[in-house]
Parts: sequence; structure tokens; C-alpha cells
Amino acid sequence: MLDAVGDVFLCSNVTWALLTVLVSLLWWRSTRPLSDVPPGPRPMIPILGNILQLETDPRKQFAKFRRRYGDLFSLYIGNKHIIVLNGFETLKDLLVKSGDKLSNRPEARTLEIVCKYNGIVASSGKLWREQRMTSLALLRKLDFGKQSMEGKIQEESVYLLDAIGKENGNSFDPTAVLGNAASNITCNMIFAQRYDYDNDHFRLILHNISETLKVSGSFAAMNYFPFLEYVPGDFCGLGKLNAFAETFNETILNPMMKYNIDNYDPDNCNSFIALYLKEMYARQDAGEETTLDVENLKQIVNDILGAGTDTTTSTLRWLLLYMATKPEVQEKCYQELQTHVGNGRSPVLTDRDNLIYVQAVITETSRLAAVIPMGAPRRVAEDMWYKGYLLPRNSMIITNLDSVLMDEKIWGDPKVFRPERFISEDGKLIHREELIPFSMGKRKCMAETTAKIEVFLFFSHMIQRFKFTTEPGKPTPEFEPVVGATSAPKAFKICAIPR
Ligand code: HEM
Repeated sequence: MLDAVGDVFLCSNVTWALLTVLVSLLWWRSTRPLSDVPPGPRPMIPILGNILQLETDPRKQFAKFRRRYGDLFSLYIGNKHIIVLNGFETLKDLLVKSGDKLSNRPEARTLEIVCKYNGIVASSGKLWREQRMTSLALLRKLDFGKQSMEGKIQEESVYLLDAIGKENGNSFDPTAVLGNAASNITCNMIFAQRYDYDNDHFRLILHNISETLKVSGSFAAMNYFPFLEYVPGDFCGLGKLNAFAETFNETILNPMMKYNIDNYDPDNCNSFIALYLKEMYARQDAGEETTLDVENLKQIVNDILGAGTDTTTSTLRWLLLYMATKPEVQEKCYQELQTHVGNGRSPVLTDRDNLIYVQAVITETSRLAAVIPMGAPRRVAEDMWYKGYLLPRNSMIITNLDSVLMDEKIWGDPKVFRPERFISEDGKLIHREELIPFSMGKRKCMAETTAKIEVFLFFSHMIQRFKFTTEPGKPTPEFEPVVGATSAPKAFKICAIPR
């Protein structure tokens, strides 16, 4: 009996050994780097590819690989061939000059499950073009590049300053208040309303965004190792993610959509949702072939909330961290605000032209912070050649924005916080085309202008009213970021002393 069991074991061991060899050979053949593709580290372990050769911080790892392999290098993870693009020239050539071939998102199970490839962030091709173009036009109609946006931020600044003032100069973590303020600007765009910071719906929106970001790392593993989706115990966080999405949809999104559809009035469209519906009905009534529909609209609401909150919040957090730890820089910003704005009124957008040092500080912070250090992944639409290398169709592209923002050849001392690098000898602001925290080309951030206005106004309001300091008697906060989809400072506390 025992022998029989042993035979079965022996037999199954031999079978397993043979199967393992076969799978490894097949894998080795399928992932053996083609000779024409960009070079890179040789995948060490079957199936896993290069994954164990990577440090947790991709910025540092990719800087090493760039030194070793050059501006284009290949990685193999699971079933994906990834090509990482580094350096300004490469990114400009490939994202701007050959933009059409690299404008699609990769095929990824996560994008399929969460977004169904709808909306703007996850979509590709004709659908992406129509959704992005239409959304940009509608946001412009709402006047969200300019004046009305300014009014909304001025209004929100009052609430932000009030919330900071309530801390009474005691130490606090500014993440929540900054997140509230940034998120209210996107809520204003989409729903034409702001929420009080203690409103339950508002808390749910913010909770949903931060929790989704937290599980997104493990969730993304499914894109490279599809079998992980079937590992029991919510290994990839799919269950959690679905639960967040369901609560958000049931509590906020679906009622909001229903309200807008039931109360639709073509002569009174003051939110993105209402304007999108108007455009959708118009195209449908005219019998046009269109991708505009309610499912895409819902996804765009998620896209704008997701893409617009964490990025702006992280940028503002970096700014406050630098100000609290560099009092001399903060004082110069304050003095400039005193000279050109004073205390009698709030800073406005037209003050930007006079607030050169403030602008240089914001610019330098957005360079060093690189809040989306690796852009968002792309896919090669068709086989293409660049500098003698083949970029095979369907390989995944990572746009290493950090490689430009931290390039020694461009900035000389990229690790040093030096706002003066953006001020010319005659005191003017220097615009450098290499400053690309919003990426480049057709797929660059859809709301660069909006985000810049938001950051400028919130920042100058805060500096005008408060002096930010580190916590007395505590170690200086760390500058090493937490790098995930975004690069944010580690949690820190500061004090805001009223001026
Ligand atoms: C400081 C703040 C921000 C930074 C640094 C930033 C940066 C970026 C970057 C690097 C991308 C990826 C581009 C690519 O695919 O390569 C992106 C995409 C995007 N951003 Fe922003 N962003 C910011 C704020 C915002 C805000 C406030 C909104 C909305 C109100 C927004 C909406 C979007 C959208 C919808 C996309 C997807 C574009 C597409 O796939 O076509 N972003 N952003």
C-alpha cells in the first residue's frame, strides 16, 4: 500500500519535474530577449523574470539601469515585455514626434476590471480620443482653465485657511485638509458643488480614493501574473477594490447621475456631468456615431476624482514640507507676497507675474517631487524602430519622467532644492521645456493649467496667512518619499503659526 502511494508520488514527481523543465524552456524561449530590442538585465527566474532584480523604489533602480544600458532598456516581468524610456530627447522623440504610436494604454486586467477600458485614463484609440477631446472642450466651457476656476479656489481657500487656523498653532498632519481642498475643486468641476470637510459623502469620496491607491500596488500584480486573480483569500485586493467601488457608486455616483438625468435642463448646465449629458444627447439625436454614453461618463467622474486629488495634494504637501524645513525660503516667499499683495487682500491669479520667487519655489518643488515619477504606462501600437532598436507591437512602455526631472546633464545639481535655477539674471521666470511633471505629448495630463492655478493660489494663500514650522523638539521630517503610483512625502506634522 505504502509502495503504491510511493509509486504515485514518484510518478507525480517525475511528471512535475518534466513539466517544470518544459514550462521553463517554453518560458525561456518566449522571454528570451530578441536581439533587436533595447538591452536590459537578463531575466533570472522563470515566470518571475526580472522582478527579484528590482529595488522597491523604481526611480533609483531605473537610474542604475539607465547608467548601465542607456536611455532605452528592457525588462521582463511575468508575461510582459516592458521598455523603459529615459531622458528628455528619448521622451520627446517618442511621446511628441511619434506620439500616435505610443498613445494607447496597455492591455491590463486591472484596467479591464476597474474601468472596463472606459473613460479617459484607461482607454485607448478612438474611444480615448473622443472622450478626452470632448471632456477638454466641456471643461473649457465651464471656464475651468481660467477665471471661474480662480473664483472657486478663492472660495475654497477661505475654508482651507479656516481649517488650518483651527489647529491653533499646534502640530498637525496637513494631508487631510489639503486633500479636502484639492478634492473640492474637482467636485466643483464635476458636480458643481463643494462639500463641508466633515460631510459624510465627502469623507467617503476621499476614503475611496486613498484606499484604492493603497491596494493598487498588489492589485497591479495581476497584470503581470494573471493567475494571481484566482488565488483565494483576496490576494490581490480585488474584493476590497470592488467593495470600495460599490459603496462609492451606490452612495454618491449613481444618485448623482440619476439626479442629473432626471433634472436635465439643456439651458442650465453648470457641471461637467450636465454638460456631458447635453453633448451626448445632441450627438445621439443627430444620429452621429459616438462613444459618449453614461458608462463612460461615470468612469470619467472616477478618473477626474482619482487623477486630480492625490497629485495636487501631494504637491501641496511637498511644498509645506519644504517651507517648514527651509525657513529662509519661506520668508522670501512671504516677503514677496507682502511687497506685491500685502495683507489687505487675497492673492489673485494676475499676481503670478509679480510673484517670481513664489513661482520658482513651486516649479522647483514640482521638479523635485515628481509626483508621478513614471507617467502612466503605454502600449506600442505597431512595431516601430528608434535609434536602431525594435519596439515590438504590444510591448509596455514606461515613461520615466523622473529621469528627466533629476537629470544631472540638465540641472547640474538635481538633488538640491534651488528655486533660483528658474530665475534669470534680470529677475524673470525661466521656462524650461525639460520640466515635465505633467508628461508630454497627446496623452499628457489633461488638467495641467488647472492644477498649476490650484497649487499657486492655495500655496500663496497659506504663506500669506501662516508661518509654517517643524514640530518643536522633534526630528526633522524625512524627505525620502513613499513611491507607489504617485510619489508622496511620508506622513509628517508641522505647526501653522498665524501671521
Ligand atoms: C500637480 C498636479 C498634477 C500632476 C503632477 C499631474 C500629472 C499627470 C501625469 C504625469 C499624467 C500621465 C500622463 C501620461 O499618460 O503619461 C496625468 C494624466 C492625467 N491627469 Fe493629471 N496631474 C495633476 C493634476 C491633475 C488634475 C487636477 C486633474 C483633473 C482635474 C488631472 C487629470 C488627469 C487626467 C484625466 C489624466 C489622464 C490623461 C489621459 O490618459 O489622456 N490631473 N497627470
